[in-house]
Amino acid sequence: MVDLRSDNVAGAAPQIVEAVVRASTGTARSYGADEWTARLQTAFSELFEHDCVVQPTLTGTATNALALSLLVPAWGAVCCSGVAHIHDSECGAGEMFTGGAKLIPLGHEEGRLRPAVLERYLAKAAGAGTAVAPPKVLSLTEATECGTLYNVDEVAELAAVARGFGLRVHMDGARFANAVAALGCTPAELTWRSGVDVLSFGATKNGALAAEAVVAFDPALAEALRYRARKAGQVLSKMRFVSAQLDAYVADGLWLNLAGHANKMAARLAGGMRSIDGIALLYPVDINEIFCRVDEVLSSRLDAANVGFFDRGEGEIRMVTAFSNTADEMDEIINILHSA
Ligand SMILES: Cc1ncc(COP(=O)(O)O)c(C=O)c1O
Repeated sequence: MVDLRSDNVAGAAPQIVEAVVRASTGTARSYGADEWTARLQTAFSELFEHDCVVQPTLTGTATNALALSLLVPAWGAVCCSGVAHIHDSECGAGEMFTGGAKLIPLGHEEGRLRPAVLERYLAKAAGAGTAVAPPKVLSLTEATECGTLYNVDEVAELAAVARGFGLRVHMDGARFANAVAALGCTPAELTWRSGVDVLSFGATKNGALAAEAVVAFDPALAEALRYRARKAGQVLSKMRFVSAQLDAYVADGLWLNLAGHANKMAARLAGGMRSIDGIALLYPVDINEIFCRVDEVLSSRLDAANVGFFDRGEGEIRMVTAFSNTADEMDEIINILHSA
């Protein structure tokens, strides 16, 4: 079976597994006081060319919720796109961790918020008095939930609009590696240099066993992050195993190699699919996700050939490639579709 239901179905990169095995001998200080977690602060500060506060975490949902809780008061609001994972796929974790902040889903184009839409909402909210929870945070997902990208200028433009109204900026980077690999920019350009205050840095979808991180670019957030992470149950007694994953992930550009490969596999598959009648790509394939409409003959054929995809209903499917997929697998799927 070639399983493209999600990048969450993939295994873990050998370099990361080996790092965990190496970390498993001997004893280490607990609850994040270990040498791996300490090393992360330096490694991420070098990677992002900025002093970072890094809090390793276990899930993307906890990472986002924790990040938002640093930036918005319980009586405030978070603007995001209507397809934002924080809005429609995290069971209200953001609302719970912030003590009740309201999420405001806004219109989007292929997953991307547009400055004019954001500005219109912020201007309206500013004149609404206490009837409307005041927006305090803009949350962008990079890459978006439609598998598309904001380029660096687009992030900076949205962040500038948000900052003009006094908001701070969060980035859900569950697929941040895929975005950086595809854009060919630096991590700094896509985040703090463009006005991002806190990043949810994903690794699990791209080769880690289970590791994400809250990365805060404002040192003033360090104390709140430390205590909120503990309160949220994200400070593991054996934190070294999470930190060792992240340590290996960012060493020697592994994270970008893994993501670049996954992106390439999706581009290869999408390229082949474009020439097949009965398939219509719904969005540009900017990273490792393909959203398309397929007719019933083709989807049944994929099913019969044991090709795993996520059925979105009404003829729409999503296929997600991972670091572990091969060019042969992509070609095999294209051949299956051609033969149908
Ligand atoms: C854009 C985005 N953000 C956050 C998450 C949450 O990650 P997790 O499933 O680890 O909570 C996901 C997972 O699919 C995602 O796609």
